Formats: sequence, C-alpha cells, structure tokens
Amino acid sequence: KDQKVIAIDGPAGAGKSTVAKKVAEKLNYIYIDTGAMYRAVTIKALNQGVALSDVDAIVKLAENTDIKFVYDEKGNQRVIMDGQDVSEAIRTPLVTNNVSEVAAIPGVRHAMVKLQREMAANQGTVMDGRDIASYVLPNADFKFFLTASPEIRAARRQKDLFAQGFEVSLEQLTREIIERDRKDSQREMAPLTRVPEAELIDTSNITADQVVDLIISRVLEGD
Ligand code: C5P
Repeated sequence: KDQKVIAIDGPAGAGKSTVAKKVAEKLNYIYIDTGAMYRAVTIKALNQGVALSDVDAIVKLAENTDIKFVYDEKGNQRVIMDGQDVSEAIRTPLVTNNVSEVAAIPGVRHAMVKLQREMAANQGTVMDGRDIASYVLPNADFKFFLTASPEIRAARRQKDLFAQGFEVSLEQLTREIIERDRKDSQREMAPLTRVPEAELIDTSNITADQVVDLIISRVLEGD
C-alpha cells in the first residue's frame, strides 16, 4: 500500500499531538490520538463513580466504550465517547492526574489497542502515544520519539491549562509531569519507551512547525 503509517511516541508535553495533527493534515492522513482514548475511559469511570482500583469493573467499562474521532464543520477533530463529545472534558486536571492509573490496566490496554489497530488499517495514519512503535504498530513505516525537558513540558501544559481557565503553578505541573512519566514508564504492560530505530527529536528549542517539517521530509525521503 502507498499509504504509510507514522508512529510518534514520547512523554507528556513533548508536543506530540500538535505535531501529529499537522503532519496528518499535510499528508491527508488520519490522526489518532491514543491518549484521548485512555482519557475517555478515565472520565467515564470517574463520572460513573467506579473506583479506579476496581480493575475488573474498569476493564468491563473499557470494553463497552465506543470511541470515535470525527471532524466538526470547522475541520477540528473531536473525540466522541458513547455518542457524546468529550473533547474538552477529557483535558481537565482531574482526568490528567488519574489517567495513568487506568492506562496501566492490561485489560484496558487490550481493548484500546484493538480499536487503535482497526483505525489504522487500510489508510495513511499518524498515531501518537506512548507505545505506538513498541507495541501497537511495530511495523510502522516511520517512528519518531519526541522529548523535551520537564520544565519546558510543564510550561507548555501551563499554557494549555491557562487557556482552559485553570491556573496551576509551574512547580506543581513539573512535579505532576515527572510523576506521570514515571508511572507511564514503569508500568508492566507496554510502558513508555523509545525503540532503538525511532528517531529522537528534542523539541525543547525548536518550534512545532520545525518538527513537522523534519518529519515530512523523512517521509518524502523514504518514498
Ligand atoms: O498523551 P496524553 O497526555 O493525552 O496521554 C494521557 C495518558 O494516557 C498518558 O499519561 C498515559 O498514561 C496514557 N497513554 C498510554 N498509552 C498511549 C497513550 C496514552 O498509556 N499510547
């Protein structure tokens, strides 16, 4: 097939989703935000009052959750969970600070990975997450690992949160981001990791557009 698959992994705040979205737009590929899927399961559990420690109940809930990505009339991608638009609701600090616990549950990952592989089949795809190159799509045509210093990642998160009306200190956000990376890297199943063949891109001192151009040039070179 001439439609390629591009995997973009990395820790929180490395710029993955901004970059992945733009790369997908330029190539006319679909963009799959796997973090949004774990966030959707998390918000559903929180809304239903299911204890996150009740692993069996959370797995059952994940297996019975319908998640879709659709485009609105302005061309913005929206996250639809069980028919409801949760695009903004999944970005609150409450969800962010609980998602890693839910994402560590193997049964939850099995359910999400099944959906992710189905979404990527038969079309040009940009998928971002933590385990895309290492686990979800090990045969991806292009693999990138984005990173940046914790302070810079926390500053990006602060800007996003401020735009949503949340004011959180840089110290607190840096602590939270380091803690989330620790949980994501140390979990048993499909942890955050860089496969040796993934190209490492430090986004600390370059713009998202520069990262996009680099990735696009690799894809064009590879053709
Ligand atoms: O990318 P984002 O910050 O939205 O991801 C939210 C959380 O979802 C991560 O901190 C991680 O716990 C989980 N996640 C994951 N595997 C992925 C993508 C996200 O475990 N492929």
